[in-house]
Amino acid sequence: MISRSKMMAVLLLCIAGAAGQGIAQKKVTRRPDAAVLQVADQALRESVQQYKLLMRQLPPEKLPRTYEKGQLLTVTPYAWISGFYPGSVLYLYEYAQDTALLREGVERLRQQEKLQTVTANHDLGFMMYCSVGNGYRLFGKPHDKDVLVQSARSLASRFYPKVGCIKSWDSVRSLDGKRMLQFPVIIDNMMNLELLFFASRVTGDPVYRNIAVTHTETTLKHHFRPDYSSYHVVNYDGETGAVKSQETQQGFSDNSTWSRGQAWAIYGFTMVYRETGNKKYLKAARRMADFFLHHPNLPADKVPYWDFNVGQPGYDPDWNFDPQRYPEVPRDASAAAVVSSALIELSGYVKGKAGSEYLHAAEAMLRSLSSPQYRAAAGENGGFILKHASGGVPGNVEVDVPLSYADYYYLEALMRYRALGKLQ
Ligand code: GLY
Repeated sequence: MISRSKMMAVLLLCIAGAAGQGIAQKKVTRRPDAAVLQVADQALRESVQQYKLLMRQLPPEKLPRTYEKGQLLTVTPYAWISGFYPGSVLYLYEYAQDTALLREGVERLRQQEKLQTVTANHDLGFMMYCSVGNGYRLFGKPHDKDVLVQSARSLASRFYPKVGCIKSWDSVRSLDGKRMLQFPVIIDNMMNLELLFFASRVTGDPVYRNIAVTHTETTLKHHFRPDYSSYHVVNYDGETGAVKSQETQQGFSDNSTWSRGQAWAIYGFTMVYRETGNKKYLKAARRMADFFLHHPNLPADKVPYWDFNVGQPGYDPDWNFDPQRYPEVPRDASAAAVVSSALIELSGYVKGKAGSEYLHAAEAMLRSLSSPQYRAAAGENGGFILKHASGGVPGNVEVDVPLSYADYYYLEALMRYRALGKLQ
């Protein structure tokens, strides 16, 4: 006879599956700090007003990228960042139950739908799961599920069995401009796998999940150094799967650790553990998080510099690095936002002191990001929530500015933290 606890476990799995959420791994209940809950609540309340300001300035069919020199810069829905604004609006709606946010969120989801057949890059997870995925989580519309499954199909079309990876970009020129990388896979791609796990769960077809797990295995083999710091780009031989080079596009140097890349790795491996229950991925996520949190160059406020190794001996950039250009090394608030969200989840999978340390680190990051140093005052920053994020420093693009994905993962982290309070 099936035991009561087994029956409960099966029931929990069914509930999680029906809601399109991850497989329910055994979780440690963690008590949130009352003062941080208050900080989160205030930040969310004020972010609602801030995003209403952003919303009013945004042209139809355009999505916010950043705010520079007094100008709101936007992108079309085809940009990799297009899913973050709709997702942020939905998190804020979920918090405030405000009908103006609901209208805007739903309208923006409809605009995203046309992307479901895009196969030109690996970013479909970011573009669709952060937007329509949140819509489906909140409203459970079968139509949104279908859009997500088609998006997963498009993403899966970029998987090459010989390499064991989804190809991130069709090709890219190396940072020194001298070579073409024909099969580049970037660490960011770990984030797009969540869409594939979702698609297998709701369709019952294991093909998407198998691709996600194979991509994870290949990434674990080739994207990390022995200390679990990450390479940004691995360029493969598309015929044999051999590694041709390990390098960077957005970091300081090929052997440095680009902060947001490490953030994508921590978040991605934590998510894959949630989806598979394979302890190997949990262990890897912990080593990646430990690298980040114990790095001697992590500032006291736990908001990293854009790369952990800027200007250090032994790290030679392939681009024209001019130390005078940014006398103070720019931070990347987006990396802290991504990591804080990941650590809240990770802390729920790790028992004892180690797990509480992950939560305390997330709390420290949320406190910093919520302070006036990083969170804009009402009406400022063009309506974006966070300041001091960095997109592509080697190309001198989006340096020390607001970015839509910094806001998205910050809001996600605040909502995750708040949810801990409701579990008590
Ligand atoms: N996925 C692109 C970036 O993190 O900048």
